[in-house]
Amino acid sequence: MVFWMTGLSGAGKSTLSEAVYALLSQKGYAVAVIDGDRLRSGLCSDLGFQEADRAENNRRAAEMAKMLVEQQIIVLVALISPRKIHREMARSLIGTAFFREVFVDAPFDLCLRRDVKGLYQRALEGEIQGFTGLDSPYEVPDAPDLHIRTDNWSLKYSIEVLHEWIITLIKSKIHEPD
Ligand code: ADX
Repeated sequence: MVFWMTGLSGAGKSTLSEAVYALLSQKGYAVAVIDGDRLRSGLCSDLGFQEADRAENNRRAAEMAKMLVEQQIIVLVALISPRKIHREMARSLIGTAFFREVFVDAPFDLCLRRDVKGLYQRALEGEIQGFTGLDSPYEVPDAPDLHIRTDNWSLKYSIEVLHEWIITLIKSKIHEPD
């Protein structure tokens, strides 16, 4: 299955994906992470942050996720994917049965305070234009399959919730031979 983690920059998508990747790998599951920052440093290095480029970035991530999930690999996608239309595109490409949307939720003010990469500061100073949540929109998911509140939950608890939920879902999908 594909677990599509959406949320603001700094909400915790990559951290959660890496942690859950490690836990699932230790248990012997085949798992892959598709991370926005890493995609953008390679496969998607030709893309910027205009609407059309974000759509294309999300499309490539979804195509890659589809290829991996077809090979029975659990895929954790960590992309801002700010538009509902991006997430719906991914869902319909991958197939509803294999797609789950995870909202990694932390309010803008907290992401700004965390500012792990110093990008919010640069955006506020006008050095970066079209920054998600600032002068580029983020559309909150209406009905995410899982809603993780990284503002109120500890990192440990957020990891536990995501990990347990994925394990339960995966186990319910495994067909036991007669
Ligand atoms: S998406 O909008 O196309 O889904 P993606 O997840 O790949 O975004 O990339 C987001 C990452 O790019 C952020 O975590 C941040 O490190 C960096 N970044 C650089 N410029 C921007 C910007 N204008 N808006 C959002 N993130 C940006």
